[in-house]
Amino acid sequence: MSEPLVLGIETSCDETGVGIVRGHTLLADAIASSVEEHARFGGVVPEVASRAHLEAMVPTLDRACETAGVRLSDVDAIAVTSGPGLAGALLVGVAAAKALAVGLGKPLYGVNHLASHVAVDQLEHGPLPDPCLALLVSGGHSSLLRVEDVTTTVEPLGATIDDAAGEAFDKVARLLGLPFPGGPHIDRAAASGSSVAIDFPRGLTSRRDLERHRFDFSFSGLKTAVARWVEARERSGEPVPVADVAASFQEAVCDVLVRKALDAATTTGITDLLIGGGVAANSRLRAMAESRAAEVGVRVRVPRPGLCTDNGAMVAALGSEMVARGRTPSSLDLPADSSQPVTSVLV
Ligand code: KG4
Ligand code: ZN
Repeated sequence: MSEPLVLGIETSCDETGVGIVRGHTLLADAIASSVEEHARFGGVVPEVASRAHLEAMVPTLDRACETAGVRLSDVDAIAVTSGPGLAGALLVGVAAAKALAVGLGKPLYGVNHLASHVAVDQLEHGPLPDPCLALLVSGGHSSLLRVEDVTTTVEPLGATIDDAAGEAFDKVARLLGLPFPGGPHIDRAAASGSSVAIDFPRGLTSRRDLERHRFDFSFSGLKTAVARWVEARERSGEPVPVADVAASFQEAVCDVLVRKALDAATTTGITDLLIGGGVAANSRLRAMAESRAAEVGVRVRVPRPGLCTDNGAMVAALGSEMVARGRTPSSLDLPADSSQPVTSVLV
């Protein structure tokens, strides 16, 4: 028998994603994004995102099936992000997945968005080593996880206590007059700047903070430090060196992320580090993680940028793993849970 064909639906934020996989093979990853509609507000507007998911759902499903060369009736199982995320946005995906599961008479798996960011790497780099460490950094989350089995056992080691890493990129970009979402623009601007031009603070790295928050992150102090620095420049009538600010800010974020992730690796004795989420697309983060990890004997896995940002393939990947490992499907009254804890991988 051939491996199961699994369709995954992602609607936790502003991307409507439908992915189709067969086993660990990616067949289609269709995405419709409402990011343009949020740009003028400088952040995702939940009501706008929900409406956009509704409009995009059926066309995106059609596109995924067409790309994969399959019919909906060929699908063996449906997976959907049940949380965490924006409540109204999640509901659209969950409702669509239930309709498909009932209509096709196929099992439904309501899965965790964060665990999906981990599982997606299997499509590119093969089975996950167990255990492995995962650093998930995006606009909505920043966490360090110990992953024993991505279908059952994901344990949080640390998380942000204020802004997410991507949120910090977006806010600093705004300060510098760069468009939303800011991460890719900072990344680009930083390429021509100096990462040591300004010594921005590294959150939660003092000895005292490490006692209580060894593997936690904080980016709001850094954001404020950048704002103060830029304001002082503007007050003095001097031009703001955008490239230098971008490079120095980016260095501060990446330094803390990599330092803490490798500290966790050394402490737990885990030698495989996976980095995922939108910020994992950052060129400096990828380069810094690879060079520093090599020094301490840790292997780094980072999916290609298109699989780091939110997508349907990641949900299909985790769903496929659920099927392969014989996990019990979700019930049809599966709720959307905006604050689904990371430890709850399958609902
Ligand atoms: O995973 P994602 O698509 O959505 C969320 O779940 O939030 O991540 C989006 C975030 C945004 O904050 C965006 O600015 C950031 O990822 N991002 C980047 C880069 N590309 C996207 N941050 C830094 N460097 C990048 N190259
Ligand atoms: Zn995400």
